[in-house]
Amino acid sequence: MSGSRGQFSSRLGFILAAAGSAVGIGNLVAFPVVATKNGGGAFLVIYIAFVALICFPVMLGEIAMGRASNKNPVGAFYALSGGNKFWGRLGGLAILTPFMIAVFYSVITIWIMLYMLQSASGNLDRLAEPAAFGEIVSSPTLFFYMLITMAIVFFILAGGVKGGIEKAAKILMPTLMIMLIALVLFVLTLDNAVEGLRYYLVPDFSLINSTVFRSALNHAFFSLSLGMGILITYGSYFSHKEKIVNATRLVAVMDTSVAFIAGLLILPAIFAMNPNVDVQTLSESSVSLIFSYLPQVFLEMENIVGYTGASILATFFFMLVLFAAMTSLVSITEIPIAWMIDEKGYSRRKALAAMGLVAGVFIVLATMSLGMVDRLSSMVTYGGVNKSFFDVIYDLFYDTILPFIGFLVCIFCSYRWKRSEFMQEVGEGDESYTTSLLASYVNLSLGTFIPVVLLLVFANNVAQIYFGYNLLGF
Ligand code: PFF
Repeated sequence: MSGSRGQFSSRLGFILAAAGSAVGIGNLVAFPVVATKNGGGAFLVIYIAFVALICFPVMLGEIAMGRASNKNPVGAFYALSGGNKFWGRLGGLAILTPFMIAVFYSVITIWIMLYMLQSASGNLDRLAEPAAFGEIVSSPTLFFYMLITMAIVFFILAGGVKGGIEKAAKILMPTLMIMLIALVLFVLTLDNAVEGLRYYLVPDFSLINSTVFRSALNHAFFSLSLGMGILITYGSYFSHKEKIVNATRLVAVMDTSVAFIAGLLILPAIFAMNPNVDVQTLSESSVSLIFSYLPQVFLEMENIVGYTGASILATFFFMLVLFAAMTSLVSITEIPIAWMIDEKGYSRRKALAAMGLVAGVFIVLATMSLGMVDRLSSMVTYGGVNKSFFDVIYDLFYDTILPFIGFLVCIFCSYRWKRSEFMQEVGEGDESYTTSLLASYVNLSLGTFIPVVLLLVFANNVAQIYFGYNLLGF
């Protein structure tokens, strides 16, 4: 069975692929700014605590579900519940959600591809114009970049688990790390860079409030690719001979380290260009930062390294973000494919063709909903705001359903799947685990406060996004 579905060749293969999924646009751009705006070093401490105390047990839950069942999310919920249709249907949420997130993430990855290729062809000055992003997102040339992006993602996925996903992660992840560190070292040599570091790292406890806790948890949860069915599916490709806990710990450490190191790049770069920048006024949205603000930052580097130098730096930066986005996109596109292979009996090739076709139509619609077609651009109004098809996908699937799926995973591992089997799966090949303090903490937290917290986050997101109401200030 596992032979036909594919399997990672080693622990390293799993770690790099899972870290490739986790390290995304969120780490490289959103994290540094969210951290700086929310107390710097103080935010970091809260973030790390959430990763360790809340996200880590959920990661173990998802990976163990995948490995024990050897299946995609629907198959995992169904098989481990002893063939319960209700749980199988709930597992369907963890197929639909990654499908829709793949659509919205593809649109952003297509923009990154365009920015990288345009910076490389000497058009950085055009990208840095204030109106550029608005024009780009409504320009039909995007479909050309869409074809390139989809071709690369599907080419990687066609190689299967070992020859495609793992191989791509083994090339892209180390390259990403090297590029990131090289860019950090360069930026730190610029005047005023230290000012940026100070803003990023010095703790400001006066900024800590309930909203900071909420953003730290939301961010940690999304950053580790939780609630997307990804870790269930990647867990199903993870060999029974390997230890889950150690591998999972490394994935969490890598993801958090990349986010932390990205801050050593973004903040010093922003301050080097404008030492008087007011960080509180910077947008927290990754999209406006990457596509509107950072091109201006790179263009201003012209004064130091010349236009060609600035274009090379921008190209490297967008390539770095592109690599991170690609490995995330590959991971999320794999989920519906694994479902079709397991549940529908499709060959990988047929599943890829079906996914390419259906996702292609949705990606075109989402792309056209950002100014090309009026009906899609203002599709519905909720929370007092007019929303496009793209916004609806983002709000509904990325911002709302993820914590709910996380909640389901906790309840499932604690109360539906036999707890002893869950514990045995996590501790397989790791005799000391079952009697460890960590195992007691994981069992206790997954069955008590973690699902409560995730349900609160879910309820709060629903209230805020759809009704414009902030529950309990949380
Ligand atoms: N961890 C990813 C990030 O920080 O960008 C989250 C993610 C989003 C993974 C979308 C995969 C994906 F398709």
